[in-house]
Amino acid sequence: MDDLTAVNDAPAKPVRTLPDAQTVTSVHHWTDRLFSFRVSRPQTLRFRSGEFVMIGLLDERGKPLLRAYSIASPSWDEELEFYSIKVPDGPLTSKLQHIEPGDQIILRPKPVGTLVLDALLPGKRIWFLATGTGIAPFASLMRDPETYEKYEQVVMMHTCRTVAELEYGRQLVEGLRDDPLIGEFVGDKLKYYPTTTREEFHHMGRITDNLSSGKVFEDLGIHPMDQDHDRAMVCGSLAFNHDVKAVLESFGLREGANSEPQEYVVEKAFVGDGI
Ligand SMILES: Cc1cc2nc3c(=O)[nH]c(=O)nc-3n(C[C@H](O)[C@H](O)[C@H](O)COP(=O)(O)OP(=O)(O)OC[C@H]3O[C@@H](n4cnc5c(N)ncnc54)[C@H](O)[C@@H]3O)c2cc1C
Ligand SMILES: NC(=O)c1ccc[n+]([C@@H]2O[C@H](COP(=O)([O-])OP(=O)(O)OC[C@H]3O[C@@H](n4cnc5c(N)ncnc54)[C@H](OP(=O)(O)O)[C@@H]3O)[C@@H](O)[C@H]2O)c1
Repeated sequence: MDDLTAVNDAPAKPVRTLPDAQTVTSVHHWTDRLFSFRVSRPQTLRFRSGEFVMIGLLDERGKPLLRAYSIASPSWDEELEFYSIKVPDGPLTSKLQHIEPGDQIILRPKPVGTLVLDALLPGKRIWFLATGTGIAPFASLMRDPETYEKYEQVVMMHTCRTVAELEYGRQLVEGLRDDPLIGEFVGDKLKYYPTTTREEFHHMGRITDNLSSGKVFEDLGIHPMDQDHDRAMVCGSLAFNHDVKAVLESFGLREGANSEPQEYVVEKAFVGDGI
């Protein structure tokens, strides 16, 4: 545990101790309700791409205020990246959205989660299905060589209300093929299918509808989903997760877990109905 004390010429006056402190290295604001940031990585932290940790800040009374966050960076990265909502009155994100490089956050180094490659039976093609900030675990998995070693094809479907809300994912995907570390693994294996639901865009519609109607298979020129070849990971609101599970089951996929791998796994992107 890091002990942060003031270091200056004045008589040593301890500042508030932040448990499990990590230093913010960069912050990027994508929209007025979305931002991403990177922090230093605890030397001892090992995680599997797709897992989440608890991060936060101290509240007014000096108590840790922690929330679950998917690690958006891959397991080989020297730093940790997070992609976050800004909830106007949210206890954590109303403050977290103001962090700047050099600031410190709390990061409990105990990664967990179901969106890990080991929780699926072997397959040919893997689908990453996300709404909103639910793309965060897939930002990690899309940058992990193991994803491309295990699957011949990777399909990333991401749906948001507006075009601006897709931008973090778009830039990440566009940078992958030319990435010196991961580019050769990605090759032509990754198919990206972003859609909006409330603003005009070249592809529109909910993930559930585009899968059920077969539009996504047609648009990408790929065969429909089936139990023998396809595996899926889901991360979105409770309503999305609920509805997309029914669609996956209609293609014959069954829900699995770390302890019992099957054809798909699900994680909540957040708890609650909405802001
Ligand atoms: C397993 C897991 C992983 C998570 N990973 C992420 C992540 O990578 N990035 C992230 O931004 N959040 C993530 N969350 C949500 C996160 O834990 C917090 O809820 C979020 O940071 C808001 O915290 P808050 O204290 O400001 O508001 P809270 O009191 O936690 O939330 C207030 C309300 O805001 C809404 N809300 C919360 N989070 C979101 C969101 N991400 N998108 C849309 N609406 C939301 C919900 O309606 C919620 O009831 C995750 C949650 C879980 C359970
Ligand atoms: N995004 C914004 O601009 C915005 C601004 C202010 C406040 N908020 C509030 O923030 C909360 C979270 O918003 P969000 O946009 O991050 O998440 P969201 O409401 O879950 O929507 C994200 C995407 O998921 C789709 N979706 C929602 N439910 C689905 C389901 N059951 N099946 C398939 N697709 C589904 C939405 O399509 P549909 O559009 O068809 O629902 C949208 O494209 C909401 O309560 C919202 O009111 C959002």
